Amino acid sequence: MTDKIRIGIIGLGGIGTSKHLPSLAKLPQVEVAAFCDLVEEKAAKAAKEYGTADAKVYTDYRRLLEDSSLDVVHVCTPNSSHAEITVAALEAGKHVMCEKPMAISSADAERMLDASRRTGKKLTIGYQNRFRPDSLYLKQLCEIGELGDIYFGRALALRRRAVPTWGVFLDKELQGGGPLIDIGTHALDLTLWMMDNYKPVSVTGSVFHKLGSTRNAANLWGSWDPDQFHVEDSAFGFIKMENGATISLEASWALNTLEAREAKTTLCGTKGGADMNDGLRLNGERFSRLYEHKVSFDTAPVVFYSAQKDETPADMEARLWIEAVINDTEPVVKPEQALVVSRILEAIYESAATGKTIYLGESASQ
Ligand SMILES: NC(=O)c1ccc[n+]([C@@H]2O[C@H](COP(=O)([O-])OP(=O)(O)OC[C@H]3O[C@@H](n4cnc5c(N)ncnc54)[C@H](O)[C@@H]3O)[C@@H](O)[C@H]2O)c1
Repeated sequence: MTDKIRIGIIGLGGIGTSKHLPSLAKLPQVEVAAFCDLVEEKAAKAAKEYGTADAKVYTDYRRLLEDSSLDVVHVCTPNSSHAEITVAALEAGKHVMCEKPMAISSADAERMLDASRRTGKKLTIGYQNRFRPDSLYLKQLCEIGELGDIYFGRALALRRRAVPTWGVFLDKELQGGGPLIDIGTHALDLTLWMMDNYKPVSVTGSVFHKLGSTRNAANLWGSWDPDQFHVEDSAFGFIKMENGATISLEASWALNTLEAREAKTTLCGTKGGADMNDGLRLNGERFSRLYEHKVSFDTAPVVFYSAQKDETPADMEARLWIEAVINDTEPVVKPEQALVVSRILEAIYESAATGKTIYLGESASQ
């Protein structure tokens, strides 16, 4: 029997095959031994390319979870199944890396967190943007107080015309929403992590379905079918935190803007500011002058989670996750943090639907 960490992967579409498997393949301490997809050929193809010689192929994730030799499961299915599969995997005694967003509702996300606590098994969510060089460096600046008290943040997930037209992204039932839950989730995760502030008290939001109704629209991945476009095309939120700090969240797949910036944050603090725009730009006042400093990442900054040579954010995400499993430490992306993201996104949808500000009680923070 091997002493490697044995992994099973469920969902072998875009993210399973382009992010998880290539990064796991670079880790000598793991082997991927089980593959599951509703479409058997997808699982079989991935097993052949990335699996152990005796890798198993399944079309029903419950069969995969019966394999007691698996230590870890990666969940890469559409959003609506994250909670069901993750809870079942945790209960089957596996540690779970689940793709973002954590779930399509905060109640589901809570069930996932509860299952992790109850079983003592680790759970993390696939927010790989935390592992970009600019994110790692900015996080360190925030930690050592270089920006001072950060009281305003902008979470930016703005695309001009990049509606994902493959898979089930336009299906409200399977995805739970559009750009807000799809890419707004990354930008909000980054912003909360930088601010290290997980105590939202109120949320006001608007969602739109405007350009989504257009036929033959210009689009990065080919025109969408407006008759199949059942989610919002853009969403905006205004979030107040317990300490008064405020965040604006802007998410779109199709918007008439020149400010296309995805998985980016802007932070404004008492001592300085930071913009993830064309790299990382720091600003503030020094020696009675305003300054702007563009950070170069040609030489790797010394950061507390340091990337190894030629390591992509996805590689680093996978490595740190597996190290957390091996060393029995907390994963960098904690499920408690992802739950707060889910609660805020849900509140934006609720505020947009009701026209009211949503007040999040004590239980909204972790
Ligand atoms: N981290 C990121 O930046 C990022 C990027 C893209 C997608 N994602 C997330 O990854 C997830 C999947 O997205 P995708 O782009 O890979 O979609 P996709 O449609 O390309 O792939 C999903 C796969 O899951 C399979 N599947 C569906 N239900 C299943 C089930 N019950 N059991 C087994 N297999 C099942 C489908 O057959 C398909 O092959 C989504 O939650 C999405 O939000 C994350």
